[in-house]
Amino acid sequence: MPAIKEHISLKPFNTFGMEVYCDYFTEITSETDFIELLENGIYQTQRHLILGGGSNVLLTRDFKGMVIRNTIKGIEIVKKEDSTVHVKAAAGEVWHDFVMWTIAKGLGGLENLSLIPGCVGASPMQNIGAYGVEIKDVFVSLEALHMVTGEKRVFNREACEFGYRESVFKRKFKDQYFITSVTFELSERHQLSTTYGAIQNELQAMGITSPGIRDVSDAVIRIRRSKLPDPAEMGNAGSFFKNPEVPADQYTSLKTHYPDLVGYPLENGHYKLAAGWLIEQCGLKGHLHNGAAVHDKQALVLVNKAGCSGQDVFDLSTHVLKTVHEKFGVELEREVNII
Ligand code: FAD
Ligand code: EPU
Repeated sequence: MPAIKEHISLKPFNTFGMEVYCDYFTEITSETDFIELLENGIYQTQRHLILGGGSNVLLTRDFKGMVIRNTIKGIEIVKKEDSTVHVKAAAGEVWHDFVMWTIAKGLGGLENLSLIPGCVGASPMQNIGAYGVEIKDVFVSLEALHMVTGEKRVFNREACEFGYRESVFKRKFKDQYFITSVTFELSERHQLSTTYGAIQNELQAMGITSPGIRDVSDAVIRIRRSKLPDPAEMGNAGSFFKNPEVPADQYTSLKTHYPDLVGYPLENGHYKLAAGWLIEQCGLKGHLHNGAAVHDKQALVLVNKAGCSGQDVFDLSTHVLKTVHEKFGVELEREVNII
């Protein structure tokens, strides 16, 4: 039975660095640990919050219940056919370390997703994405245990209902499954994805004309370091809002008023707008509220600049939502999980 501790500070377990406490805290290092936990009376009577790296949560108050940290480790090649390789990674593996492992093995597919904080187990939750790639592009399946029955279920790509920063685990199956591993299809003869303008510019700046997977990873790391705040230096959870989707007529009308508007067409005829641009145009870059701030290099990121509370960040996000709506008539949606 995994040890259960009482009244634990969650500060080391969330990248916003919020000092809140949970009533109970446990770490799961194997599937057996979790199955045993199901028999525990405290587990059975408390609310649960699963955490990996805590890099996509805003903790606004003490958590009245049990925090379950997934630290199950292990990476294995489970299938190899010609140059196609299936790699299964346990949920508690650190995402970036896993990406580096695949690159060291010469396996392409995850290089554009280098340096995203957090753990493997959370990657399907919001179908993590960056620089033109989302995990759904290389996803095979995941294994998860039901939070009440402990029954193991394998979800293939279709069953996960992936969308932009979305999956079935944020909707129909919210709080119902404990993800234990994820399997990806990678390739030894990988077709690189370098269409994202910033990658091309960075590779050029690095003097690289025929890049390999490691070059693309290096370029992505350089871009990310140049604009995203390092949680070790300034608390944050990456983009706080999603980039909004608007109908074509609204896009056209906005573009007429604001010729510099940043947006691009989607397959469904709608347009995706850059929320960072909208927020910046409202004059909110660097805006401060009780120590919570809109990041001065990337307006889509809210930061804990001076020991603020989760409620301060939440209130700042409400101010951003309201201001963007008043100026542009566009509704932003929070991307970070508010607890
Ligand atoms: P946590 O924050 O611990 O959890 C996130 C959610 O998943 C919670 O609801 C939690 O309950 C649930 N969960 C976690 N593990 C499990 C599990 N094993 N089973 C079931 N539920 C689980 N995201 C992107 O998509 N693209 C980016 O480019 C990106 N850049 C970022 C940059 C910075 C600087 C930061 C701080 C964050 C960034 N993020 C980005 C957000 C974040 O890194 C990802 O969402 C990441 O996948 C979260 O992983 P985590 O382990 O920290 O999840
Ligand atoms: N922009 C501004 N001002 C800003 C920020 C952005 O004008 O303050 C403009 C940029 O000039 C650019 C456009 O907005 O033209 C897009 O900016 P960027 O390339 O930085 O990406 P983003 O749309 O802000 C998204 C993801 C990131 C991901 C990057 C790279 C979302 C919500 N965010 O950000 O994901 O790393 O693209 O692919 O989709 C995250 O989810 O936490 C995250 C960091």
